[in-house]
Amino acid sequence: MNAHVLDGKAFAAKLRITIADHVAALQAGHGIVPGLAVVLVGEDPASQVYVRSKGKMTVEVGMRSFEHRLPDTTSEADLLALIAQLNADPAVHGILVQLPLPGHLNSDLVINSIDPAKDVDGFHISNVGLLGTGQKAMVPCTPLGCLMLLRDHHGSLAGKHAVVIGRSNIVGKPMAQLLLGDSCTVTIAHSRTADLPAMVRQADIVVAAVGRPQMVQGDWIKPGATVIDVGINRIAADDGGTRLVGDVDYDSCAAVAGAITPVPGGVGPMTIACLLANTVTACCRAGGLAEPEGLTV
Ligand code: GUN
Repeated sequence: MNAHVLDGKAFAAKLRITIADHVAALQAGHGIVPGLAVVLVGEDPASQVYVRSKGKMTVEVGMRSFEHRLPDTTSEADLLALIAQLNADPAVHGILVQLPLPGHLNSDLVINSIDPAKDVDGFHISNVGLLGTGQKAMVPCTPLGCLMLLRDHHGSLAGKHAVVIGRSNIVGKPMAQLLLGDSCTVTIAHSRTADLPAMVRQADIVVAAVGRPQMVQGDWIKPGATVIDVGINRIAADDGGTRLVGDVDYDSCAAVAGAITPVPGGVGPMTIACLLANTVTACCRAGGLAEPEGLTV
């Protein structure tokens, strides 16, 4: 079998066009321009690339982008003061603090100082609790993007057995909550799961988010299953350079799966598109306006 390729890059491009239409309508109908503030502390090269890309896409869909780059010596008090200022700023509808933060800063404290209504990452404990209890929340961007791809491919996910590999607060746990919300039977597996290949072999849907390059092998996959690869790992390439791979061994899994996301061009582009979608959702909620369909769950 040759798996259907779930083209996240194309899906995300379409989603951004829909978002741009909503942004234009908000401005024309209500004089409101959604604004996203991104805070980067320190010089982590990967984070700098992400933040630049987020800023560019924010402007491309017609929203306002506010970038705050702080030195890695920034004190917790100064960072909390900036977040308080952004919380109070009516032009800012979404706030994202890029993770990881330098070690002297308490990430939980910082994230939980963001107004939950502006928490477009969905990491604030209020949003985690709302999602876990099936209430209206801000939903973390990467799992939201994965769910959109899964719904688009399958329609209903009800009754499917989903195995999520990885238990992070950013992906694994919220992914499991979203799949449960769509009536999947959900298993959260992780690095300590006994006989992981046998567990994964039971899955109709596999979401790999462990951060181990090409860990999931083709003989772990039930024929016809859907494989969502959240991993982004840089490894040595044959030509002496480097290349990006996921947590899934693409070639062996694509030979068995019914559908699979590539790396790059799968989940990655969905994450930023969903960040923009969350900013529009937050903006509409703040203004007491009807939320556009299809931007969140
Ligand atoms: N670092 C890696 N992924 C993310 C994310 O989704 N949000 C934030 N804020 N930081 C990240």
